[in-house]
Amino acid sequence: MVRFLGIGSYAPESFLKNEDFEKFMDTSDNWITERSGIKKRRIAPPEITTSDIAHLASLKALKKAGLRAEDLDMVIIATSSPDSLTPSTACILSAKLGIKNKPCFDISAACPGFIYAVEVARGLLETGDYRYILVVGVESGSKFIDWEDRGTAVLFGDAGGAAVMTKDDSERGILATFISGDGTLADLLKIEVGTAYPIGSWGVRMKGREVFRNAVLQMGEASIKALEKAGLKPEDISWLVPHQANLRIIEATRERLNIPREKVYVNIDEYGNTSAASIPVALDEMEEKGLLKEGDIVLAVSFGAGFTWGGMIIRW
Ligand code: ACO
Repeated sequence: MVRFLGIGSYAPESFLKNEDFEKFMDTSDNWITERSGIKKRRIAPPEITTSDIAHLASLKALKKAGLRAEDLDMVIIATSSPDSLTPSTACILSAKLGIKNKPCFDISAACPGFIYAVEVARGLLETGDYRYILVVGVESGSKFIDWEDRGTAVLFGDAGGAAVMTKDDSERGILATFISGDGTLADLLKIEVGTAYPIGSWGVRMKGREVFRNAVLQMGEASIKALEKAGLKPEDISWLVPHQANLRIIEATRERLNIPREKVYVNIDEYGNTSAASIPVALDEMEEKGLLKEGDIVLAVSFGAGFTWGGMIIRW
């Protein structure tokens, strides 16, 4: 089965608490906590790039997998905040890891980017042409934020999570994945940098209420479709690991699946929305805390800009 051999994560040490925003913006700790569940978020200093965060997360994943960087056959990064439009952040990361002559590319699928990238890696590992693939979900979204827009500035944080994937005869691994998208709703959440925008245009733009509605709907749908593909029911799940965008979205997904609260992993209070990094960061943290036991059934589910969404069932 295709599985994770080692997962690692990294988040910059510097952070902003909700109270810090009160000093330069018309907002409050109360509003942010009640509407989103966020208390603080990591913010990388200007000199730290997305590939730097990816690098530190990847070194930890490699260590846990018991491998060296040169053992990797491919590097895939899911990010919406790349170091540059080109070259890809995966190629920059490869150089930082000291890897040469191996394929490296980025995937742009917003928050479910890690689930998309794992699905791509799974297909490639199934061909038998590659033994070890590094998949990273990483963001330094703080660099794209419009710090005058209180509707988005308070929500996002920086972090990265990496997984070394392989295929072997283990019974552990990815049981099923469901991914989907709908580009007709693209305007509801976007980062305005690219050929559709004037040079110098900048910033995350979001219609929060509409995004919220769609996120609740599709996080539930993706969970149910992934479970169906795996031939499982919500009661079979040991852990629900939802994308950490908003505590109320997490709660709505939990209710739709009728899963008890103690089976849902939540760290949004500590990190805010780290987009493509949120699932692998959560998985690494859960491992560190000893929460994930061999054989546990994990449902990871996410929703984001595009819109894109996806669910993945893992036997841990
Ligand atoms: N502080 C104080 N007031 C604020 C703030 C703030 N930081 N931001 C917005 N407000 C105000 C608004 O201006 C509005 O005021 P008005 O009624 O006078 O116009 C009021 O609060 C309500 O605004 P809404 O946007 O309707 O508030 P809502 O309850 O929807 O919560 C939130 C906003 C938290 C953004 C919510 O809509 C949400 O979480 N949406 C989904 C976001 C999301 O999941 N995004 C990520 C998925 S994709 C990805 O992860 C990349």
